[in-house]
Amino acid sequence: KMSLLLELWLSGLLLLFWVTPPVISSWWYMGAAGGSSALRRVMCDNVPGLVSRQRQLCQRHPEAMRAIGLGVAEWTAECQHQFRRHRWNCDALVHSQRSLFGGRGLRSRESAFVYAISSAGVVFAITRACSQGELKSCSCDPTKKGSSKDDNGHFDWGGCSDNIHYGIKFARAFVDAKEKKGKDARALINLHNNRAGRKAVKRFLKQECKCHGVSGSCTLRTCWLAMADFRKTGDYLWKKYSGAIQVIMNQDSTGFTVANKRFKKPTKSDLVYFENSPDYCVRDRDVGSLGTAGRVCNQSSRGMDSCEVMCCGRGHDTSRISRMNKCECKFHWCCAVHCQDCLEVLDVHTCKAPAESAGT
Ligand SMILES: *[C@@H]1O[C@H](CO)[C@@H](O)[C@H](O)[C@H]1NC(C)=O
Repeated sequence: KMSLLLELWLSGLLLLFWVTPPVISSWWYMGAAGGSSALRRVMCDNVPGLVSRQRQLCQRHPEAMRAIGLGVAEWTAECQHQFRRHRWNCDALVHSQRSLFGGRGLRSRESAFVYAISSAGVVFAITRACSQGELKSCSCDPTKKGSSKDDNGHFDWGGCSDNIHYGIKFARAFVDAKEKKGKDARALINLHNNRAGRKAVKRFLKQECKCHGVSGSCTLRTCWLAMADFRKTGDYLWKKYSGAIQVIMNQDSTGFTVANKRFKKPTKSDLVYFENSPDYCVRDRDVGSLGTAGRVCNQSSRGMDSCEVMCCGRGHDTSRISRMNKCECKFHWCCAVHCQDCLEVLDVHTCKAPAESAGT
């Protein structure tokens, strides 16, 4: 029984290392292991890629690890959404067997985004798990009790306010543990981008209220703080990615400063990076690039997803596909919608592979 659990646990934790997330079910819950500390140690010790501080957190908070595992799928999907029109589209995260972070040369703008969004994702996942009562070590924000006042008058704090402070604290402890403190250039910018990611989630904490009183007059309100959809954080970090600031180390290696003095200094919420990105045209594991061979491009676009840009001038193949669509939908009183099935024929364009690797 023990070895089965161990196997499940290990395969579950591989999620943390960017394997395509399988359907996740509730077995991945270490509470089911009976909470034996010896068993936890065996499990946490066998997760590849964890540093010792992370192992300790794994043993102490097994159910938080589960929340993080679920979060991985979400922020990977968010990353793919944000980069869907770009050569680098985050698929390297999903395909890579090991942590993308582990690779050499990942000091680009894209890796800044990945650090920020995964750190934000841990905040989001842990905070949500707190509110849902899944973690022993936290609950709804205990400071949001009693009454308060805003522009619309008095209200009571009620229900469960998302405990973002706990989420941020946990994410800082867990994610930042990976970085060597000290005069390590890469650690410095990773820590900076991790923090920017944590702060991003906090921006989209919003007050939600429920009105009571005579027919929705809202003279009585109960309010709580809730995190917005993770998409908001993704959109925001995408803007930060677009405006990311290139930096260089200080003389004494204790910090960094903007590389081009004509640009503004980075604030705590800006993303920073050291090196210019490769073009991501060809496959190169070392820089987290899968290349664009086989990617779908848009022939009518003039942007990053145009066939010209996406395919890096290598040209594209066109295949005609047909599919059934719902069409001519009519509303019938009452209450049904009836549609016809229409055959739609469309051309799909995909980028050609580079000449040297053609046929592979
Ligand atoms: C292709 O690009 C055009 C122009 O930007 C856009 O209107 C269209 O929706 C795009 N098609 C797809 C399938 O994304």
